[in-house]
Amino acid sequence: MTRRKINDILISEPIGKKVTVKGWVRTFRNNQFIALNDGSTLDNLQLVLTLGDFEEDFLKRINPGAAVSADGQVVESQGRGQKLEIQVDKIKILGESDPEKYPLQPKRHSLEFLRENAHLRFRTNTFGAVFRIRHAAAMAIHKFFDHRGFLYLHTPVLTASDAEGAGEMFRVSTLDPQYPPLTEENEVDFSKDFFGKEAHLTVSGQLEAELGALALSDVYTFGPTFRAEHSHTTRHLAEFWMIEPEMAFADLKDNMDLAEAMLKFTILYLLENCEKDLQFLDDRLKQEEKNKPADQRSLMGLIEKLRFCVENDFERITYTEAINILKNSKPNKKKKFQYVIEEWGADLQSEHERFLVEKHFKKPVILYNYPKGIKAFYMRLNEDDKTVAAMDILFPGIGEIVGGSQREERLDILQGRMAEMDIPEESMYWYLDIRKYGSCPHAGYGLGFERFVQFATGMGNIRDVIPFPRFPGSISF
Ligand code: 4AD
Ligand code: MG
Repeated sequence: MTRRKINDILISEPIGKKVTVKGWVRTFRNNQFIALNDGSTLDNLQLVLTLGDFEEDFLKRINPGAAVSADGQVVESQGRGQKLEIQVDKIKILGESDPEKYPLQPKRHSLEFLRENAHLRFRTNTFGAVFRIRHAAAMAIHKFFDHRGFLYLHTPVLTASDAEGAGEMFRVSTLDPQYPPLTEENEVDFSKDFFGKEAHLTVSGQLEAELGALALSDVYTFGPTFRAEHSHTTRHLAEFWMIEPEMAFADLKDNMDLAEAMLKFTILYLLENCEKDLQFLDDRLKQEEKNKPADQRSLMGLIEKLRFCVENDFERITYTEAINILKNSKPNKKKKFQYVIEEWGADLQSEHERFLVEKHFKKPVILYNYPKGIKAFYMRLNEDDKTVAAMDILFPGIGEIVGGSQREERLDILQGRMAEMDIPEESMYWYLDIRKYGSCPHAGYGLGFERFVQFATGMGNIRDVIPFPRFPGSISF
């Protein structure tokens, strides 16, 4: 008999049929009832052993965490809490689990505890739900772009350029760290390194995606990106996944429209395809909220919040309008912000972004036309000579979830901006070339995938929405 997944059995309800199921024991009670989970769904399947059919010694080896295979008949359940169960004929233990040592007990564990035992956290309800939702979100994003004729472009992980110009890159080298070859000036001689020059892990696939767009029209990347930021926050990872669409013949408004449509499509897809997991996380969040002081509780439940995002237009305002709102806001006047907004040109901190989204507008906000001084070199200079056609999308509870812009397609202006920002032209010839041969208006953005999954699952810490989080000091498994 071929094995059937629990989700398939619970959906198709093959009452009377013989099936084989495999999975991991969650609980075993009265030497009779096994709650089996195989990760295909939140729900466990009840296996019923007939008393007296099995040796006492064998039953002792059925413990939480053990992997088992069982053959039996699907029957309507006599007990409460499940519609059907398996009346077991044959059961085999595939992998034992020592009950004295297995770290997961049938109780609630703290997320911190699970992060330390992260190799086992897939076995819990919460992380099962999170990673099924993460999968569904990735599928939805691919569907969205595929429907619209975007090509999935694989951009390199190893690179010689700093796309964001922020200098937060991980070095990649095969030189001997103890005795590297040196130049006459006694500096490390990277010409002797693997690539013949300095190399790093990419911070973004955007620059390569621009080259793709200026031939293929619409492309997107979906891959890992790396940032050596020493940020110990609930929103930063050293390795995270980013989705970066890039469109030829598009301006900032097209860019905003695409991003808003993508976010709404993906959220709606989750509401339609991950109902059970979302409901579980919604309940979990409500429990957690009960322990918070009343003024810190969120007004909406998880599912309600997701619906709200799909059903309402995002607020679109310029950076200048945002600064005026912030300057006149209560927390600014009372100096409650850690960084008080004094004047136009200030970079927005997450406290300001969250004020705009959570307190002022109470919905997702797209901020655009930022001062050129606080944004990357490739963003298109506006007529006012002071701002660039940049946009950030801010989400409740998260802050910045998307960052993007219309790109500077005019060669001379781009060269001027690079000179101002001390970005050497020689190493960027390939990027400048597309401005020389058939340049055209184009635009794109980056969605931080983990920030999106954080929003969709209501998880408080970004480390809990990626299977193997990397952050300063952490790379165990
Ligand atoms: O705003 P960022 O730095 O933009 C870019 O990298 C552009 N090249 C994107 C583009 O236009 N193609 O990053 C984009 C998004 C952020 O809005 C945020 O959601 C996420 O990536 N992000 C991070 N997520 C987790 N951990 C970090 N350290 C992140 N840094 C950025
Ligand atoms: Mg950004």
